[in-house]
Amino acid sequence: MAREGACVAIADFNAKGAAEAAEAISREGGTAVAVTMDVTNEAQVSAGVNGAVAALGNLDIVVSNAGIQFIAPIHELSYADWRRVVSVHLDAAFLVTRAALQHMYAHQTRGSIIYIGSVHSKEASPLKAPYVSAKHGILGLCRTVAKEGAQFGVRSNVICPGFVRTALVERQIPEQAEQLGISEADVVKNVMLKGTVDGEFTTTADIAETAIFLASFPSNALTGQSIVVSHGWHMQ
Ligand SMILES: NC(=O)c1ccc[n+]([C@@H]2O[C@H](COP(=O)([O-])OP(=O)(O)OC[C@H]3O[C@@H](n4cnc5c(N)ncnc54)[C@H](O)[C@@H]3O)[C@@H](O)[C@H]2O)c1
Repeated sequence: MAREGACVAIADFNAKGAAEAAEAISREGGTAVAVTMDVTNEAQVSAGVNGAVAALGNLDIVVSNAGIQFIAPIHELSYADWRRVVSVHLDAAFLVTRAALQHMYAHQTRGSIIYIGSVHSKEASPLKAPYVSAKHGILGLCRTVAKEGAQFGVRSNVICPGFVRTALVERQIPEQAEQLGISEADVVKNVMLKGTVDGEFTTTADIAETAIFLASFPSNALTGQSIVVSHGWHMQ
């Protein structure tokens, strides 16, 4: 986004990580600020979005991306863990959307809201009930935003990645190996990448390309949609 000319606010509850990402963008000549916020905290989201707009002047594109994973079968899952995962994905998507729409509607920015869903917005896997449920819920939020936002020129879409080898996935490999009683290599080959057409991980660059495509699309023709980017793991 920054390479395409966007001024970017990196929002995360990991202040150091957000600052490092913003500095990396600035070093390459882009414009970026770091915003510290817990996306599940209503007051912090409002303050964070308002702060980003104050720093950068406007809000045209939102990527709702924060996420966590928790691996457990449903019969052993605590209500607290269920709520924690659903909150980071779905409650947070609502809070960020509401704060963003208030700016976009007031300033008629004809914005683009992009949710990071998952192939798990379309399919289920064992051991991931709260994640799968929340990621399915994001499709409903996106479609509602598309319908409400159209009159203001605001579009809303979901990117549904397959497995990307980020920290979130690295943590899951040993956890799934233990739960399923198989090796870590088998988790990668026979669980994560088994359904792909070529046995390859999706990359963060693939997801960034898709986000740029969605953000720059010129009309309401592309709204309320979900695009799966998964090396063919899920085809629709
Ligand atoms: N990695 C994958 O294979 C994959 C596949 C499909 C979808 N996704 C989705 O992509 C998104 C990004 O995941 P990732 O793989 O980069 O994971 P990651 O763990 O590398 O990054 C997640 C980020 O979210 C931040 N975060 C977590 N809870 C937060 C909170 N309460 N407030 C603010 N920030 C918070 C973390 O600090 C971290 O920077 C998530 O929504 C995830 O569900 C990932």
